[in-house]
Amino acid sequence: MNYDVKNLKLSKVGKNRIEWAERDMPVLRLIKERFSKEKPLKNITVASCLHVTSETANLMITMKAGGAKIYLCASNPLSTQDDVAASLVNDFGISTFAIKGEDNKTYYSHIQSVLAANPQITMDDGADLVSTLHSGKYNLQNIIGGTEETTTGVIRLKAMAKDGVLKYPIIAVNDALTKHLFDNRYGTGQSTLDGIIRATNVLLAGRNVVVAGYGWCGRGVAMRAKGMGANVIVTEIDHLKAIEALMDGFQVMPMSDAASVGDIFVTLTGDINVVDKHHFLKMKSGAIVCNSGHFNVEINIPALKKESKKVRKVKEFVDEYTLRNGRKIYILADGRLINLASAEGHPASVMDMSFANQSLSAEYLIKHPASKLKNQVYSVPKDIDEKIAELKLASLGVKIDKLTPEQKKYLASWQEGT
Ligand code: NAI
Repeated sequence: MNYDVKNLKLSKVGKNRIEWAERDMPVLRLIKERFSKEKPLKNITVASCLHVTSETANLMITMKAGGAKIYLCASNPLSTQDDVAASLVNDFGISTFAIKGEDNKTYYSHIQSVLAANPQITMDDGADLVSTLHSGKYNLQNIIGGTEETTTGVIRLKAMAKDGVLKYPIIAVNDALTKHLFDNRYGTGQSTLDGIIRATNVLLAGRNVVVAGYGWCGRGVAMRAKGMGANVIVTEIDHLKAIEALMDGFQVMPMSDAASVGDIFVTLTGDINVVDKHHFLKMKSGAIVCNSGHFNVEINIPALKKESKKVRKVKEFVDEYTLRNGRKIYILADGRLINLASAEGHPASVMDMSFANQSLSAEYLIKHPASKLKNQVYSVPKDIDEKIAELKLASLGVKIDKLTPEQKKYLASWQEGT
């Protein structure tokens, strides 16, 4: 078996972490039990490019239980849990190529190692795997379809489909309600603050926390920061989201105004240079700046470097930039996803639903091969989304009401008014 992980001796700790996550993934467990019996992925080769965490490990184990041959690499150079990667190789026989802190060259060579397996299904998070597969160097004849985990990846893949260059169908797992309503909002909301706190141990109460982007992730971070006593300021470029933030009780202003009042800045936009040179120049000395959006392009670190007379690492995941004006700015985790770099990513309970979507979407692609689907980006079928919500509620012991025949009739009719 081919693999490239930091140290196989870490596998004992990794296995314990995988089992700990599994406790909180009851929906995925049910899918694994069914997959073990039915083997819907029998002999299907799956190339996965996902954050190599204990929750992802459980998805990989589920896919393998369904009969798939799995190859896994990281979707971000800083998000790998090395002990989990070791356990996937040692205890579960899954070809894993991921090392926390790998450089860009290794990151792409790991993607290439996974693609060398000649996959039939791709599972991506951010679309680096799919874009590499479309580089012209690969034969795509075997491909049935793929799934995409995150907002940024879905945007990239829709752009490929629009330009007519996407060569196989993709299911946008991110767009399922049981994904972004919970994973992006509650998962990113909690784990981003967890990441900031683990890296800095900063007190949020009474601080001005600037949240750039009030999408699903930004809403979650703003909500949780407020809950911890921070004064939350939101920056947006979308009028609707900006009104929503205002009515949710946050201050809204442009980044150029927020720059001079913020103590802690978090970007969650999927956009580039949201915190730029002119913002850094206005910041208070001691400002902490981090990102939880997919790519490390949201903070213009190269521009900050140019404006700095000194850069030094003050502790793990914290770099101090001393500007020529003498002020100090602290950048966390090199501008990479802070929740995965310095914390453990999303809690298993939300990844349970995201990865239930992943595994059921892969099964759907096998049942609906290319002859039935176009080279487009598809939503997760509504019945899958609804089933996952139903199973999650059942696993939490929560019951809900059912429509009575009278209510069904009423809701389907237009004749009855008052
Ligand atoms: P979204 O599309 O719901 O929200 C993004 C928001 O940013 C939008 O409201 C947009 O108007 C706003 N925006 C864009 N440019 C801006 C700018 N220059 N200034 C201020 N606001 C701006 O996307 P979502 O789902 O919230 O995802 C955001 C990013 O987080 C994506 O890159 C996504 O892939 C990533 N993500 C990260 C996760 C993590 O674990 N850290 C988990 C899920 C998503």
